[in-house]
Amino acid sequence: MINRRIRSALLGFITLFLPMALWAEPQQLVFSHVVSPDTPKGKMAKMFKSMVEKKMGDRFEIIIYPSADLMDDDEAVNAIAEGRIHFAAPSLSKFETYTQKLKVFDLPFLFPDMDAVNRFQNSPTGQSLLTSMENQGILGLGYLHNGLKQLTADRPFTRPEDLAGLRFRTMNSDVLIKQFELLNAEAVPMAFSEVYQALAVKRINGQENTWSNIFSKAFYEHQPYMMISNHGVLDYMLITNTDFWKGLSEQDRFNFRYAIKMALKYGNAVAKAKSTNDKTELTHMKNVTVYEPTAAELATWQNAMQPLWASYEKIIGKNIIDAARKAGQP
Ligand code: LMR
Repeated sequence: MINRRIRSALLGFITLFLPMALWAEPQQLVFSHVVSPDTPKGKMAKMFKSMVEKKMGDRFEIIIYPSADLMDDDEAVNAIAEGRIHFAAPSLSKFETYTQKLKVFDLPFLFPDMDAVNRFQNSPTGQSLLTSMENQGILGLGYLHNGLKQLTADRPFTRPEDLAGLRFRTMNSDVLIKQFELLNAEAVPMAFSEVYQALAVKRINGQENTWSNIFSKAFYEHQPYMMISNHGVLDYMLITNTDFWKGLSEQDRFNFRYAIKMALKYGNAVAKAKSTNDKTELTHMKNVTVYEPTAAELATWQNAMQPLWASYEKIIGKNIIDAARKAGQP
């Protein structure tokens, strides 16, 4: 009798007083990206998921869609702006519908190395770009490195004129399109997920990408010729929807910020290691030729592409380009 009374009192207590959260399913937050899980961005996303769920797993679950399984980057940027997904980390070249300022990252040969990219991103100008799309629903939470881009093709090339008449895939960015047009090559903008197949059927002759992307997507299978051009940067902005972010409690935002900081730190370390490692792997492949231009040869590429800086001064903002140049000359 007493037992029954205790049992029913306990049940009443549990029903009435245990927080609802114990029964509620965690809110699912979607993180979409286009690269393989084993890349700087893929690994950063996994670290972010585990950090968030460790601290707030009772309320949030991060669902990662890698390899463009859910959508490509152009759609992901729109989906973030409209609040249909929660996190993405598209390349800085993929925001031109929303801001012209990030085009600074596409200007060829503006950043001599990743330290310069880092300095610019951490400068007041670089940090201000994170909030440049805030009013359009896209809030930048931090930068993630991948690395400097290299040129690859299906035939040997060493001079800018060797690319004349060839078709090169670019990301959907008018700076990148014009960069190839300056070389009298044809630029073919295309989603990342389509590049391998387009190379395989020779719809395009070449492309530009980082060592990590060339290696992880096996572009080398159809691009036996590569040049250590380091002519541009491929970095990312980790983004979220502005209203979603502002709707979080202060404590949750604090926890998310901590998870982001740790995940980006880890992702940047992976990017550095992979850049060296994947370059070495590609350089040692039997069927791949990696050409290292002399300083004089590289200067001919710089001279061919650099006129873009002046023509984008008004569009991007001279102050932004100057800040980036300054970061390149410490
Ligand atoms: C590309 O489209 O080449 C890159 O943006 C892919 C990526 O996310 O690294």
